[in-house]
Amino acid sequence: MFKSFVLAATSIGLASAAVTCDNLVDHLSFEGVDASLASCSYHTAGETIKIDGDQSVCFSETQTEIDMCRVVLTVATSPTSHNYVEVWLPSGNNPWNGRLLHTYNGGLAGCVEYKDMKYMSSLSYATVGDNGGHNSTTADGSKLLNNNEAVIDLSYRSRHLAVVAAKQVIKQYYDQPASYSYYVGCSTGGRQGLKSAQEFPDDFDGILAGSAAADFNHLSDWTSRFLLITGFGKDSRALSKDQWVHVHEEILRQCDEPLDGVADGIIEDPTICEFDSSKLRCGTSSDSRCLTQTQIQTVNDVYSELYDQNGNLLYPSLSLGAELVASQQGLFSGSVIGNAANWIANAVYNNSYWDPTTLGQDTYTKADETDVLHGNISTWNGDLSNFREAGGKLMMYHGLADPNIAGENSQRYYLHVAKTMGATDGELDQFFRFFRISGGDHCSSGGIGAWEFGQIAAGRNGRHSAIDQLVAWTEKGVAPDTITGTKFVNDDPNQGVAFERSHCKFPYRTTYKGPDFDPNITTSWSCEKIKNWQECGPGALPRLC
Ligand SMILES: *[C@@H]1O[C@H](CO)[C@@H](O)[C@H](O)[C@H]1NC(C)=O
Ligand SMILES: *[C@@H]1O[C@H](CO)[C@@H](O)[C@H](O)[C@H]1NC(C)=O
Ligand SMILES: *[C@@H]1O[C@H](CO)[C@@H](O)[C@H](O)[C@H]1NC(C)=O
Ligand SMILES: *[C@@H]1O[C@H](CO)[C@@H](O)[C@H](O)[C@H]1NC(C)=O
Repeated sequence: MFKSFVLAATSIGLASAAVTCDNLVDHLSFEGVDASLASCSYHTAGETIKIDGDQSVCFSETQTEIDMCRVVLTVATSPTSHNYVEVWLPSGNNPWNGRLLHTYNGGLAGCVEYKDMKYMSSLSYATVGDNGGHNSTTADGSKLLNNNEAVIDLSYRSRHLAVVAAKQVIKQYYDQPASYSYYVGCSTGGRQGLKSAQEFPDDFDGILAGSAAADFNHLSDWTSRFLLITGFGKDSRALSKDQWVHVHEEILRQCDEPLDGVADGIIEDPTICEFDSSKLRCGTSSDSRCLTQTQIQTVNDVYSELYDQNGNLLYPSLSLGAELVASQQGLFSGSVIGNAANWIANAVYNNSYWDPTTLGQDTYTKADETDVLHGNISTWNGDLSNFREAGGKLMMYHGLADPNIAGENSQRYYLHVAKTMGATDGELDQFFRFFRISGGDHCSSGGIGAWEFGQIAAGRNGRHSAIDQLVAWTEKGVAPDTITGTKFVNDDPNQGVAFERSHCKFPYRTTYKGPDFDPNITTSWSCEKIKNWQECGPGALPRLC
């Protein structure tokens, strides 16, 4: 249907002169947003796309998988800041599916995520990407120093103005508006998705927000705190990598099969694991990797929530089971976790020389006090009623073995929304559903669990697509009860499927039917409602169950 429309508009011509990629430059105009066209170019499938405009890159280049008209815009976000925006418009042999899909930023933003634009445009969406309002790389916070406009852009403004402009490009190129607008993002991109739902209910009809960096300041406090728990390198508190493997094995021994019935290395629900670290102590344990009492305390501290000086919860604990990947990534080896410390230094203190070892209550207070100045980057508004009234649908997911952002924090946000709106889970189900991805790493882009479900480029091989589910929910009212992830043998689709699992929406727990069932197939698991899910909030044990 859309194919015939595209052909009619481009080759036959309508009463008004047909708009093509070549002459789009003569037709494009904008209302309500200060945008200007930087370039417009036609590319056929297989062509290499290189970043324009002297921009820093997340990925220096990529290959388009479709024929497309590629539009590059500069969108002014304030008198002294602007956003670099690309819109990829499916054309030629690859007709548009009539919808807009906006991609995301990672870390501290600064560049366009080409891998995701490539993936999402291949699904026939008019695909939008932007650099988040400053030109940098995702691990570099230096552009935020003494630059509050860039901070506000990162917080919300770049995404909002980019989609306002992109909708106009789409309407003028295809001579019809996008039928629906979607947003797909993860990590910082997950936070950006929640921000859109919280503050800009008309920007997107459907939002898929993964592993969200929500409660952003407290997340940064929490991440930076690992340095204070483990010390730098040679420190009696530190554990070797082998010892972390030992800790991981002991956590699995206590909380994998005994709690979920399947010894697959996946802790189906880490929030109900009450881990006893004393089993690791030398003397109790005869393992050569046993821990000293000081190291036992380190493990306990790693698995503690972050509280302020008055005992209020700031951020939940790392998920039990995440320690293996976390230690491999350096979270426990005294290396300062770049993005978090970068954020606090450059944005919270305007001081790139801020010393992370001084982290403490003063830092927590200062970060909270600057939140309004920073456009409420905390992204913790629990009132989604405007989004609900606008008819929006929000799917949120989080890997429960995420080593970078506590998986429990998304659960905490769900509870926060329920409480703020005074809503039951059945009421939230109408517009907001949260899925816990057991054994999923950060952004569920990896992990021992069934982590591929088409969520972002990294999970594109999944046999089931959460993006398709979002579209079905938004447009046809077919609401998702589970997200089905695929685990390929060695994460290689060519080697076949190892297993699949359907991850239940919260407050349901993905539950094994019993030893007579093959755990590798989805029908061997059911969704069981968690009792008293509203009461098992922050600080409660079991934790955020
Ligand atoms: C963007 O950043 C890169 C890397 O720092 C730099 O080479 C380039 O000149 C910058 N471009 C603009 C337009 O500021
Ligand atoms: C950082 O510096 C900029 C530029 O002087 C200023 O606008 C902003 O308010 C400062 N931010 C903080 C947290 O002090
Ligand atoms: C930030 O939050 C404050 C307090 O809730 C509110 O008054 C203000 O309008 C918010 N600002 C933005 C940019 O959302
Ligand atoms: C399930 O899949 C895993 C990984 O491929 C395999 O090791 C295991 O033997 C399978 N279990 C069953 C019951 O088929």
